[in-house]
Amino acid sequence: MRFAHRIYKMEDKELLSLMELAEAPDIISFSGGFPSPETYPIDEIKESFVRVLDEEGKEALSYSSASGYNPLREEIAARMDRLFGMDMTKDEIIITSGSQQALDMSGMLFIDEGDVILFETPSYLGALNALKAYEAELIAVPTDKDGIEIEALRQSIEKYGDRVKLIYVIPDYQNPTSRCWSDKRRKEFVEFISEYDIPVLEDAAYAELTFGDTLKKPLIAYDTLGQVVYCGTFSKTFCPGLRVAWICAHKRIIEKFLLLKTNVDLSSSAIAQRQMVYYMQHYDYDAHIRKITLLYKSRRDLMMEIVRKEFPDTVEFDVPEGGLFLWLSLPAGKDARELLALALKENVAFVPGGSFYPDNAKNNEMRVNFSNMTEEKIVKGMTILGRITTEFLK
Ligand SMILES: Cc1ncc(COP(=O)(O)O)c(C=O)c1O
Repeated sequence: MRFAHRIYKMEDKELLSLMELAEAPDIISFSGGFPSPETYPIDEIKESFVRVLDEEGKEALSYSSASGYNPLREEIAARMDRLFGMDMTKDEIIITSGSQQALDMSGMLFIDEGDVILFETPSYLGALNALKAYEAELIAVPTDKDGIEIEALRQSIEKYGDRVKLIYVIPDYQNPTSRCWSDKRRKEFVEFISEYDIPVLEDAAYAELTFGDTLKKPLIAYDTLGQVVYCGTFSKTFCPGLRVAWICAHKRIIEKFLLLKTNVDLSSSAIAQRQMVYYMQHYDYDAHIRKITLLYKSRRDLMMEIVRKEFPDTVEFDVPEGGLFLWLSLPAGKDARELLALALKENVAFVPGGSFYPDNAKNNEMRVNFSNMTEEKIVKGMTILGRITTEFLK
């Protein structure tokens, strides 16, 4: 059978088969990228669904409007205002089926074949794959501890000129490194980019998963020109199964997304959107987020303790201040895929870092999730991984 060209650009067979092994039931898997299922507020969600079905069943089981259920758009606008000091209305928001859909639709909206997308590296594999489907050239821009490097960004923009059609970034506790851009870099970035007519895709999937007391202001809060497209989601702070997320952007951009949304899936799930509103109006969503970040912080602490004890000193890392992942660097030249093959033999899994670079450009790093496994499994799995890593690096 003949498939479209784009499909051949997306496959990573080696990784996919390794990751399939990682899903086996007896594996201690540090490879997932989602919240711990034990934190899902199942009773509250059940109650919300029942109330929605009792009180507005017919509407909840119909199509929603393409832009999304208005009370949910209003809830989100009010929340963005409260958290980030913005002044937003529902007309600057469109509901999407997961932020993955927002990333895909951004490719559809901004990219023609041969265009260039600049993105911070390493970066979220799912976004790179979604954007690759639009036959863009993906160009990596390095990051340092404060965020994307502005000088490197300037050089790429100068080199590729008008071909640059999008910049994709994850400023908060990003996937895979959990790094968070400093306030200074955020300001510098938005100021710098305002000199160019290039849209910025701000993926804020982990924005609220901080272990500190305050949230960072998103790029969109600094943007006065309407260049930033902000993608938010309930997947990491609530649960991914409902597939409810949102795009927040200038009205002229939201109008275009609306055209695409109708083509892509007509609307996001009406019942899931209505249950989300019921939940937000009747329960304490902020308290829920505080609860899960406390849990993840304690799992991070436990993981750090074992890494410090069991891993060789040549393995480098920064302590994550939020998010779901620990990013470990093996000495240059070592291949984390080989380490994964060894770990899988002892029923432990993680994601080799090469998957987060275009063309597996760098292979000595690894992403280890700390949110998803119980304390007991963290101790057992990381102790095994520490021993295997020590032997591997000898
Ligand atoms: C950075 C990032 N963006 C977006 C997504 C997709 O999330 P959603 O469940 O909202 O589609 C993920 C999921 O892992 C992610 O890590």
